[in-house]
Amino acid sequence: MVISIREARERFAGNTAFSEAPRMETIGILGDGQLGRLLSLAAGKRGYDTIILGPTPDSPAGLISKEQIVAAYDERKALDALAGKCKRITYEFENVPAGSVRYLEDRGAHVFPSSNILEMAQDRVREKAALEEHGIPVTKFAKVDSHMELQKALKEIGCPAVLKTTRDGYDGHGQIVIRNPDAAGNDFELHRNKKENNGKTFILEKMVDFQMEISVIVARNENGQTCTFPVAENEHRDNILHMTIVPARISPEAAQRAQEMAVRFAEEVRLVGLLCIEMFYTKDGKILGNEIAPRTHNSGHWSIHGSEVSQFDQQFRALLNERLEPVRYKPSAMINILGEGNGNFLSGQIKVRKMEGIGLCMYGKAEAKKGRKMGHVTASAVTIEEAIERAKIARNELRWER
Ligand SMILES: Nc1ncnc2c1ncn2[C@@H]1O[C@H](COP(=O)(O)OP(=O)(O)O)[C@@H](O)[C@H]1O
Ligand SMILES: [Mg+2]
Repeated sequence: MVISIREARERFAGNTAFSEAPRMETIGILGDGQLGRLLSLAAGKRGYDTIILGPTPDSPAGLISKEQIVAAYDERKALDALAGKCKRITYEFENVPAGSVRYLEDRGAHVFPSSNILEMAQDRVREKAALEEHGIPVTKFAKVDSHMELQKALKEIGCPAVLKTTRDGYDGHGQIVIRNPDAAGNDFELHRNKKENNGKTFILEKMVDFQMEISVIVARNENGQTCTFPVAENEHRDNILHMTIVPARISPEAAQRAQEMAVRFAEEVRLVGLLCIEMFYTKDGKILGNEIAPRTHNSGHWSIHGSEVSQFDQQFRALLNERLEPVRYKPSAMINILGEGNGNFLSGQIKVRKMEGIGLCMYGKAEAKKGRKMGHVTASAVTIEEAIERAKIARNELRWER
């Protein structure tokens, strides 16, 4: 049977069961960084195009997609243009204004995950409350916007505690540790007066004496099918993810508990799409939720190389209400490649690409500024130890040069 493209599009638009629907849809992505790039690549493999909306010309995502609408995330005309071209839209950056997502939703676009979930993830107080509400315990926390609230919170929470801006934080930005209650007032004042924290609200969290940081990525489609990736073990350096090891070296019982928590959360918030829950695994074996990223996550990048279905493939499947694939994977270790501010050329790539069981992925960013995520390298092997060892060897072959 031959049908016109127009007819196919019309059928497609009205079809949510869609197993046999003609697939000629262009997926919209808010955000122009590496996560949008990697989703575009996953879509491209399946014959789909993506359109990016984001502010950066020649962005990592824009460079390899069908089109980039170069605009601020709250520009109505740009949002109209995106909604006009894409029925299904996702975001790769959790600080896109929730109002923009709501605007798209009101215009009839399907945005995954929904604006409700995005709003929850954008405010640490709401986020922690939501984690608790949906069965994931969290460390003690309190909203603190005045010295009085700070003193009250310190009494309940104790020291050490972490003071964070409730919004816009990433990679540890906007956070300080309060160790001495007598100096807390002063610390709070200094933190609040920083230029970047102007007008911000704050949360105080009890510092968790964790054994390990872990994360779980969960996808859910419109049919309600869920699927998790194995629990990832995350090592941070200077608050930036350095290495992810999969599967996390925790007991199978704890891993199952973490995955079940993520599934319950996804079901209860009626997730459509994919999200990551960052968690702490405490020394006494408890699992505490820390934050939600309503998108693919750096701790899932290993899956591009180490799993039959990557987090981006799964995100794409969830967006299109396709059947989610079970995750078959090899023990893997992923190390981030950060810019060091001393050259934009990464030497050693040819050698590393020839190494057995190694996947090297670069994001196409021109300038390797210090601390900027430029790419990652993953090693997959028969054992976790071997994967870690190989990932380190591969990473050591790579050097920034001018
Ligand atoms: N309450 C806490 N207890 C112990 N460590 C924390 C706590 N909150 C944050 N951290 C550390 O700081 C890192 C960054 O904090 P996080 O809450 O994940 O914010 P973001 O990633 O948005 O900057 C965490 O990965 C963890 O290493
Ligand atoms: Mg985090």
